Amino acid sequence: MNYEDVTFDCFMSLESKERKKILNDPELLKHPVKNNLKQSRYDHSLSVAETARDLALFHHVDPEKAYIAGLLHDVCKGFEKSDPALLEDYLNFYDPDKLNGLTGAYHAWAAPYYLKEKTGFHDKDILNAIYNHTICRSKDRLSLILYIADKREPLRGIIDDIIKIARKDLYRAYKILGWDVERYIKEVKNERFIENRL
Ligand SMILES: [Fe+2]
Repeated sequence: MNYEDVTFDCFMSLESKERKKILNDPELLKHPVKNNLKQSRYDHSLSVAETARDLALFHHVDPEKAYIAGLLHDVCKGFEKSDPALLEDYLNFYDPDKLNGLTGAYHAWAAPYYLKEKTGFHDKDILNAIYNHTICRSKDRLSLILYIADKREPLRGIIDDIIKIARKDLYRAYKILGWDVERYIKEVKNERFIENRL
């Protein structure tokens, strides 16, 4: 089997044992992620995965779950440009209240439904973290880790103390980042938050 060619669109046509094998092996799971994203977004995803794994090790969170959450968190990001109607379709069907929320978070809210439908992936902790990675309304450690890793992975080139703070205190780092994100959305985008539950 040539794993390099696997895409999310063809995933369900694979034999069940192959599907399980891919979903349980981050190295194999990289292939459909890569095939779903442009190169720069894929590089960002790998960098988020590594940053999330590093933070997980400081907070007794399963490092492999953190890595997979990072790897998968932006699987729907490309649809913002290529097929925005697809994101709206997922939300309209599964989570219609979210269509009143920030459009920049549609890719995060749609991703768990997309992944479940396309691959049968069903790890609740990881899906919840992905759902909350743009606007975090979940206080579990994996969600905080992914939220922070997404905003401070090294390829973003932002030099500050957030990762250092997060290694000691995830919630403190989340609050600092959250103020920035909320201010940006309210003042610059003039959009509003809505509650966030998967
Ligand atoms: Fe991201």
